Amino acid sequence: MKAAVLRAVHAPLTIEEVEIDRPGPREVLIRTGAVGVCHSDLHFIEGKYPCATPAILGHEAAGTVEAVGELVAYVRPGDRVITCLSVFCGHCAMCLSGRPALCTKSDVARRPGEAPRLSQGGTPIQQMFNLSAYAEQMLVHEHAVVKVEPDLPFAQLALIGCGVTTGLGAVLNTARVEPGSTVAVIGCGGIGLNCIQGALIGGAGRIIAIDTVPDKLEMAREFGATDVLDAAHGDVVERVRALTAGGVDYSFEAIGAKSAAEQAFAMLARGGTATIIGMIPVGQTIELDGAMFLGERRVQGSVMGSNRFRIDMPRYINWYRQGRLKLDELVTQRLPLAEINRAFADMVAGRVARSVITFD
Ligand SMILES: NC(=O)c1ccc[n+]([C@@H]2O[C@H](COP(=O)([O-])OP(=O)(O)OC[C@H]3O[C@@H](n4cnc5c(N)ncnc54)[C@H](O)[C@@H]3O)[C@@H](O)[C@H]2O)c1
Ligand SMILES: [Zn+2]
Ligand SMILES: [Zn+2]
Repeated sequence: MKAAVLRAVHAPLTIEEVEIDRPGPREVLIRTGAVGVCHSDLHFIEGKYPCATPAILGHEAAGTVEAVGELVAYVRPGDRVITCLSVFCGHCAMCLSGRPALCTKSDVARRPGEAPRLSQGGTPIQQMFNLSAYAEQMLVHEHAVVKVEPDLPFAQLALIGCGVTTGLGAVLNTARVEPGSTVAVIGCGGIGLNCIQGALIGGAGRIIAIDTVPDKLEMAREFGATDVLDAAHGDVVERVRALTAGGVDYSFEAIGAKSAAEQAFAMLARGGTATIIGMIPVGQTIELDGAMFLGERRVQGSVMGSNRFRIDMPRYINWYRQGRLKLDELVTQRLPLAEINRAFADMVAGRVARSVITFD
C-alpha cells in the first residue's frame, strides 16, 4: 500500500510503497477513507517534538474495516469507523478511573520482538500515534476505533477523529464551560474553530475569537464567535480585558505558542481558567504573573479534549445530523495523498481550516 513517509525532520513527506501486516488477535485492518491534516503532525515534521524515522504520521482519520483479528468482536469487515489516537488499554489506572485519554498505553502496540505492523523490505517503519493514517491502510488495536453509521462522508468523519474531539472536548469535558460564561479562543484553526463551536453548544454568553489572519476571524464568526480580535494589531490581553470588564472566565490556547499560552492566563477574570491545548515545543517554559493566582486563576492542559471517544464521537455525529455542529464548513479542500506537502504549506500560510486527504 502507498503511504506518506517522514524520512527525516524538516524533509517533505515522500509517497512510498509500504508493507502492512495482517491483523493480530486484537487488531483491525482499515482501508483509509480520509485523513485530516492537523498541525500536530507538522510539529513532528518540524522537529518541535521528537520522532524516530522513518515514520508515518497522520492521526485524524476515518475508514472501512477490511479485516479483524480472531478476538475482535466490536467491529467486522465492512464497518465504517473513526480512528482515535486515544487508544485505551482498558486496564490502567487512568482507563479505570474514567480518564482513558490519559491511558498509559501498556498494551496497545506490538511488543518488541513481534513483527512490526508497518515495514519496508524488512525494515520497521514507526507507527505514529498507534495509527499512521497518512496511508491507504491502517493496522490498529481494536480500542483505537469507534464504529459509526455508514451513511456519513469520510472527510467529515475524519475531522471528528482529532480536531472536533479536541476542540469541543477541551470546552465541554476539560474546562466544563458553564452557560452564560465568557470565553476567549486564541488561534482559530482546525482546533480553535471547534473550541468556538463547543462554546456555542455549551451556551457561553460571549465568545471572543483571536487570530492573526482576517479570513480565520471571518470563519470564527460563522462558527459562533460574538467578537473577533486581530492579534496582528495591538495588545490582545488589553483588548480582551476592555471587552469583558476585566477578563474572561475561560480562555483556550489553540496555537502551540509560549506567548499565546501566557496571554491565555493574563486575560483571565478572577476565578478564571486557562486551558492550553496547543503543543508548546518540548523544552519551552511559559511565564505567568504569580500574583494573579491570588484571584484563584487556574491553568490546565487538555489532551484530545479529555475524550471518552466511543461516547463522545457518536454524540458529535448526532449534533451534526441535527445541524448543531458544523463539519462541512471545516473541510476547506480535499487533496490526494500525493499532495500532502501542499496541505502542510497551506496550513502554514493560514489558508485553510482543514485540508483533508481523500482516497477515492
Ligand atoms: N492537546 C491536544 O490534544 C491537541 C490535539 C490536536 C492539536 N493540538 C495542537 O493544537 C494547536 C493548533 O492546531 P490546529 O490544527 O488548529 O493548527 P492550525 O494551524 O490549523 O491553527 C492555528 C491558528 O493559529 C493562528 N495563529 C498563529 N499564530 C498566532 C498568534 N500569534 N496569535 C493568534 N493566532 C495565531 C493561525 O493563523 C491559525 O489560524 C497545535 O499546536 C496542535 O499541535 C493539540
Ligand atoms: Zn490532531
Ligand atoms: Zn489504559
